[in-house]
Parts: sequence; C-alpha cells; structure tokens
Amino acid sequence: MGNATQAPETPQNTTTRPRIAFIGCGYLGATYAICFAELGYEVVGYDINTAKIDAFSSGTLPFHEAGLPELLKKNLESGRLRFTTDVQAVADFADVHFICVDTPQRKGEPGADLSYIEAAVTELSRHLTRKCLIVGKSTVPVGTASWVQELVDRHAPADLGVEVGWSPEFLQESNAMHDVLRPSRIVYAAQSEWASKLLKDVHRGILELAAVEDREVPVVETDLATAELVKVAANAFLSTKISFINAMADLCEVTGGDVTDLARAIGHDQRIGNKFLRAGIGFGGGCLPKDLRALTARAGDLGVGESFRFLGEIDQLNTRRRSHTVRAVAELVGRPPGPAGPDLSGVRVAYLGATFKPDTDDIRDSPALAIAQGLRRARADVVVYDPEGLDNAQTAAPELSYVKTLVEAVADADVVCAMVPWEEFRTLDPEALGRQVAERRILDGMNAFDADQWTAHGWTYRGIGR
Ligand code: UGA
Repeated sequence: MGNATQAPETPQNTTTRPRIAFIGCGYLGATYAICFAELGYEVVGYDINTAKIDAFSSGTLPFHEAGLPELLKKNLESGRLRFTTDVQAVADFADVHFICVDTPQRKGEPGADLSYIEAAVTELSRHLTRKCLIVGKSTVPVGTASWVQELVDRHAPADLGVEVGWSPEFLQESNAMHDVLRPSRIVYAAQSEWASKLLKDVHRGILELAAVEDREVPVVETDLATAELVKVAANAFLSTKISFINAMADLCEVTGGDVTDLARAIGHDQRIGNKFLRAGIGFGGGCLPKDLRALTARAGDLGVGESFRFLGEIDQLNTRRRSHTVRAVAELVGRPPGPAGPDLSGVRVAYLGATFKPDTDDIRDSPALAIAQGLRRARADVVVYDPEGLDNAQTAAPELSYVKTLVEAVADADVVCAMVPWEEFRTLDPEALGRQVAERRILDGMNAFDADQWTAHGWTYRGIGR
C-alpha cells in the first residue's frame, strides 16, 4: 500500500479517459479534482467562489490536508488540471460532471439542505450544449437522484439526453488523497448502458493504479437509491460504533474497567473489527453528525422512522459526551458540579486541540471546541492551542483565549486538557510538561497516554472510560 502523502506514479496505460468536471470545490470536489488529474484525466474544478478558484489556480490549497498542496501544484503544471468560475466553459468541456457541493443540515431542522445541489444542477443544465452524465457525489437523502434527473430534464435542452448517475464517496479528512486514489471500494449507479460504460471509464484510472500496486478495489454497481443509501448507511454505522464504545466507557468508569483494553479485546474479533472503537469525547465534523440526523429525518418522511429511532439515541449519547467531559474536568480540579453546574472561576485550563480530529483545520461540530466553550461557560480561564485549527476556532468561538504555541498554553495551568490526538500532543513528555504547569493534572480526552507513566511523574490523570 502506498503512502497517502506520496504522489503515485501516473499509470502509463492511456485508455479512454472521459473529461471530468467537479462542481463545487470544497474539501470533496477539490481533492477529487486534484487526484483525478493525478490519475491522468483532464479535469476542471468549478466553483462560484472566486477567491477559492483563484487560490487553487495559483497553487494554494485553502484548507489543511497533508500532501495535497504538492499534488495540486504538480497537476496544475501538467496542464491536466484547471479551476474556473465559468460555467459555460465547464458545460462545454466535460463528459462527466460530478456534483460535489455541500449538503449541510437545514437550520433548526434535522434534514439536509439541498439548495446548493439545486442551484448547481440548474445552472449547469441551462448551459449544457452536449450530451453528458451528471453524477451526484454529495451526501444526500435517498430519492435526491430522481429529483436531480427531473431538474436536469426541466433545465437542460431536451434533445441532449443528459443523464444522472450517482457515486458516493468515502473520503476522510486528513486521509483524503489516499481515500480517493486508493479507495476501499467504488460504488456507482447508472440508468443506461451508455452511462454505465462512462462510469467504468471514469474509474478505470483508480483500478489501473490498484493493479500496478497489486491491490484490488471492489466495484459495486447498483441502482440510484442504493447508491445514495450506501453513503449514509456507512456514516450511520460508523457513528453507531463510536457511540457504542462511548456507552461502554461510561460503564467502565463506574466499574473500574478500562475501555481501551475492552475495545482492543473485542476488536480482535474480525466480525467486530478494531477500527472506530476509540472512546473519548465523541464524534464531530461536517459529516457524521449531520448525516445521522438527515437519515433519521428521511426515514421518518418515508414512514420507517421507528426503525431509526435508535439513531436519535446514538446522536444524543454523542452530544452528552460534551457535558460529561466538562464534569470530568470539574471533578479533576476538585470542583464537582453543584445544582447550577460547575463553577470553575479562577481555574486556568491549558486546552490542547480545537479541531474535530487531528491533521485537519476543520472545526465544524468539533467536540473539542464545544467542550472548551462549556468550560468557559463554567467560568474557567480556557487557553486554547491547536496546531492548525486556531484561525477557524477563533472565528467560531471568539470568547476563548488562543495562543500560538503549546508552551504558552500550558504555562501556569491548573489543569491540562489534551483533547485532539495530534502527534504533538500524543508525544508529550510528562516530566517536561510538569515543570511548566502550576498543577500536575491532566484530562486525557484522547485516551492516548499511559496512565501509570503520568501518575509516576506526579500527575493526577483522568482518561475517558478508564
Ligand atoms: C467521515 C467518514 O469516516 C468518511 O468515510 C466519509 O466519507 C466522511 O465522513 C463524509 O461523509 O464525507 P470524517 O468526517 O473526515 O469522515 O471523519 P472521521 O475520520 O470519520 O471522524 C469523525 C469523528 O469521529 C471525529 O470527530 C473523530 O475524532 C471521531 N472518532 C473516530 C471517534 O471518536 N472514535 C473513533 O474511533 C473514530
């Protein structure tokens, strides 16, 4: 298996390579555009945000993803990759248009907001001048593909016969390049032989790379509804795994068990598997929480809500991790919460981590940031440090204090909260850190430390579920 941050050699086998457009250059569309250029396709990335397109065109990645800036520059230079805000140029260029725009949670409601899809598809359809395939990649409620086909039929010239397909993506931020170039599986749905062949050609580059590296990538061709459902099913299942292990963490805390040992032990059973069983402060990010809610809402609309009631509990269990962790900090500093909640006034908290997971600057629905805000509401003096997420965190939670180095964050702290497993935090040395703080107390929200080692250096250690 190749290294995710290392660009692969472009396979030399030049078979039919459709020209591809990625509509919407957020994390998803941009990563796909860059990686498909790397695979040898002629690619255009389209977005209505001029600043974003200017950044990509000049070789600057407007978000943090290791390895991707190098691949962006390399493929701009190759001439296979370009970015534009000109929808007509995109409509004229591509054989296949992948729709990669955001589908956020609707304000005040659990369902998905499809307005960006509607705008993108309508605008593209109006400018089409040739037969092409429009393929949804954004995560959507089941049934969206048929609605997109209706939109296309309404707005594209009828004689072109433009078709809609669907192909979900499974990329994880911080592992995005790897997940596009070397995916665990390819899933797509087409409505005709023509579209099916085109989708095969589109994915051929991935399969050729796999063959060069002596790997296999399973391909699942299915119907539109299933292709849409595969994505939300995967995210709901992953969320369920995490909330399950967090529930076990609660049980471990009241019985003296250790949830990290427990997860390791059950994970050896291959039917269970050892991934996504890290207990801690809960899941966040732009995908898992909102997909869980959107699936529950859609199931309700379709009359099978009862079967998905458990997902509401998964979501609540996850949200409760946040107040649970605030309470754990309060207990750690000897201020157990009273009826009005904890009072942490005068407590200086060194807060390590703001992003929703390590190796990204994304703070969307970040449990770490929400807990920092919870501590602040309890009147603690919270000083946050994060290797990449400071700017985004500061915009989202201006009430917190931010510093640019770990050393500044921990100086004279009454308690250290290590919340996001960045390498810089996982490798902290208890003795060296102990000399910088006022009190040797640590909340290991990452469950990454050896408790005995920290205790041996005079720390009061508290993990999650251990
Ligand atoms: C997730 C899915 O993993 C991807 O497959 C999917 O393509 C993507 O959403 C999407 O829908 O676009 P991502 O949001 O990048 O990817 O993040 P994950 O790596 O899944 O982590 C999600 C959250 O779960 C993080 O807050 C992480 O810290 C937490 N987590 C993960 C745990 O608390 N425990 C674990 O064992 C694993």
